[in-house]
Amino acid sequence: MSPRHFLSTLDWSRPELESVLADASQLKANRANRDGLGSTDFAGKSIALVFFNPSLRTRTSFEVGVFEMGGHAVVLEPGKGAWPIEYRDGVVMDGEAEEHVAEVARVLSRYCSIIAVRAFPKFQRWQDDREDLTIRQFAKYATVPVLNMETITHPCQELALMLTLKEKLGTTDGKKFLLTWTYHPRPLNTAVANSALIAAAKFGFNVTLLCPTPDYVLDPRYMDAAQAFAKEQGRSITITHDIDEAYSDAHIVYAKSWGALPYFGRWEAEKPIRDAYKHFIVDERKMALTDNGYFSHCLPMRRNVKATDAVTSSPQSLVIEEAENRLHVQKAMLRRLSGLGEIDRVSP
Ligand code: CP
Repeated sequence: MSPRHFLSTLDWSRPELESVLADASQLKANRANRDGLGSTDFAGKSIALVFFNPSLRTRTSFEVGVFEMGGHAVVLEPGKGAWPIEYRDGVVMDGEAEEHVAEVARVLSRYCSIIAVRAFPKFQRWQDDREDLTIRQFAKYATVPVLNMETITHPCQELALMLTLKEKLGTTDGKKFLLTWTYHPRPLNTAVANSALIAAAKFGFNVTLLCPTPDYVLDPRYMDAAQAFAKEQGRSITITHDIDEAYSDAHIVYAKSWGALPYFGRWEAEKPIRDAYKHFIVDERKMALTDNGYFSHCLPMRRNVKATDAVTSSPQSLVIEEAENRLHVQKAMLRRLSGLGEIDRVSP
């Protein structure tokens, strides 16, 4: 039987994810109380962290999380300390790659209990990048669970965001979630935007997507999934280009920049369009239109480009809480993938 992977939250039901978040809350409380519960869950186990792209939060939170559970994390950077890898099946490997993912994934499966992968799109052809080949090939060949540390979605970030919002709002059901595009000097991955959209819809928010033009609407795979989750729960997905309407009465403003898919790989053509929308920055005037709303961003974030200093440092800003919660949700997901059951709930 093939192992259960965590490649995207599309493959996990809301009750399953709620259960992981409940475990994360318990692990967070245990850590705060320094009671050591959960500290031997990974004793004698190792996980592989395979990074094709840079990271601060993901690498640190996974390494620290595995350490705190008594396990060991092995960080690998193919092409930089580990051999470059080929992903396509059936090709003549006469280029840069020294080995094939078929061997890499099976060898790592003999050493490690879980393989976690970060592999951003190549930003050349969306039709290729949307196949998410790198992590899909790891999942195809690995005999242990594979976990997504950000490819064309960022499911661990989604879980951290949902835990943070549950802590602040009590319930996510029926609240207004604004996902706003913001300017950035370079085109960025749609991963966090895709993830925020589907997580917010799955957790029962009424979701508004604010972006400069229809070209910035996300891939239909994620738009359609969000529509389906919203419909199941009697909620709405609204797409707008009107800033004031979008911010009005929002409970959470989630900011992210991303490149327009119709211009994928033709970024010089997109640049003048993007440059005309610097005013999408999250600022105090816009936040004043919300229902005393919270602000968050996955980080890293350029201050005074995506959000002003005043918003980023305000009491309503959740950027640090969300980053901390990466640690707790990832520990909970690693436990779940390794076959450990739900944690006993301890009364406060
Ligand atoms: N949010 C996030 O994934 O941060 P890093 O890119 O630093 O890991």
